[in-house]
Amino acid sequence: MKIDISTTNPLKHTTPALVIGCLEDIKDEMFTKCNAALDGCLERLIASKEFRGKANSTHLIHTLGKLPSERLLLVGLGKKVDLNDERLRQAAGKAVQVLRGARIATFATALHLAGSTETAIDAVTSGTLLGSYTFDQYKTKDKDELFNFEGMTLLLAKDTNTKAVQLRINSTEIICQGVRLARDLVSHPGNVVTPGYLADTAKELAGKHGLDCRVYEQAEMETLGMNALVGVGKGAAEPPRLIVLEYHGADAKGRPVVLVGKGLTFDSGGISIKPGAGMEEMKTDMAGGAAVLGTMAAAARLKLPVNLIGIIPSAENMPDGKAFKPGDVLTSMSGTTIEITNTDAEGRLILCDALHFALKYKPTVLIDLATLTGACVVALGHEASGLMGNNQRLVDALKGAGERSGERLWPLPLWDEYGEVMKSDIADLKNAGSRDGGSITAGWFLKQFVGKTPWAHLDIAGTAWGGKARPYCPKGASGVGVRLLIEFLQNRR
Ligand code: BES
Ligand code: MN
Ligand code: ZN
Repeated sequence: MKIDISTTNPLKHTTPALVIGCLEDIKDEMFTKCNAALDGCLERLIASKEFRGKANSTHLIHTLGKLPSERLLLVGLGKKVDLNDERLRQAAGKAVQVLRGARIATFATALHLAGSTETAIDAVTSGTLLGSYTFDQYKTKDKDELFNFEGMTLLLAKDTNTKAVQLRINSTEIICQGVRLARDLVSHPGNVVTPGYLADTAKELAGKHGLDCRVYEQAEMETLGMNALVGVGKGAAEPPRLIVLEYHGADAKGRPVVLVGKGLTFDSGGISIKPGAGMEEMKTDMAGGAAVLGTMAAAARLKLPVNLIGIIPSAENMPDGKAFKPGDVLTSMSGTTIEITNTDAEGRLILCDALHFALKYKPTVLIDLATLTGACVVALGHEASGLMGNNQRLVDALKGAGERSGERLWPLPLWDEYGEVMKSDIADLKNAGSRDGGSITAGWFLKQFVGKTPWAHLDIAGTAWGGKARPYCPKGASGVGVRLLIEFLQNRR
């Protein structure tokens, strides 16, 4: 969708639909003026309780020539004290859902005028771009049922510094394109998005945005001793890959931020096979890798002043005569030996080699994202990603970025005691303990491979994919991680 800006007075702007925000407890100037132009229609809606300004409630009315805009879309913003960027993002997302339903492809918005912060425009822009996302590439019938937005005009106050606003919009568009890339990759089926496809995507991004890319093939990984990563890929016809992207936005001597994303393109569970019901959702097990790709692309395009490395261990977890199996012992790249007690606990195996490999870049901080455990979905549902780490400062910085971006994180402990169940009789570690504290024991396992490097682990199993639509995230892939990490990177130090 194309985004324009204009400083025309919303009440004088000609458009198929004008979107305005309405607070629950305060009738602001926009409300009063629209109400007057429409002969008291808005007051009438409030008196009859048809529309009360409750957060994310909407009401679409025809103006019948009383305003230059053909329609007025009212979007509730809740109470003034609760108004923040996330409210605006949600309101903007909700607005495009209603406009889509009414097949209104062009519109103008004054939503951000209700929010007083400088970032209100960013919030409305991203809510609009993210809320209008669809994934319909595999729909071949009813093509004329498909609908595309054309453009939105952001209506700004007369005295706005439009140059500065345009720059902010450009940045927001870049970030949302990163989210879109992540959503697309997660939405595509597992027979399309394979380790090879992720590697090709990384190479393509490198060419487009000036990143360095290197893809390690199975033989090279074997030489490096990545037997945990290679072991997981053994049962699949498509060999595993280790994808590395580098972006140099700062002094060549500056130590990099390293991002690691789980790129398991399909998780059948392997020999410890998963139940059939819902298994199709395991095409999303590469969402961490998708978030890293989206973030690398956005960071490069935004020219962030940081050195950034993205590492994606990628494999398919399949049952086969050649597959790894319970009881096997794998020697990871770090030398730590791992007894396999469950082939479905494969994420930590591909990640432990990628994390150890990452240490060679001497990261200032190391962050991994992974759809790692069903236990995290049980603990936090779909509202927050699990957050673990060995460095409080990093954990706090990420949590803050989560609150600001709306991609919230919630901390879980990694005390030594949690490691008891991960001890093996035959090897240094087991790859799976008991069900209890499953997200934490998985995080504890990863912690054994990062040494003293400041590290954080984000378990995005519950947030990467949603069974129901949200205001600015349609049902399906959320692209979680991209906005969070860009927010984190923009606010470092
Ligand atoms: N990819 C899954 C975790 C997952 C579950 C992601 C639900 C998204 C939604 C992971 O590889 C897995 O299977 N984890 C096991 C670990 C167990 C065997 C220790 C789990 O959570 O059941
Ligand atoms: Mn698994
Ligand atoms: Zn998995």
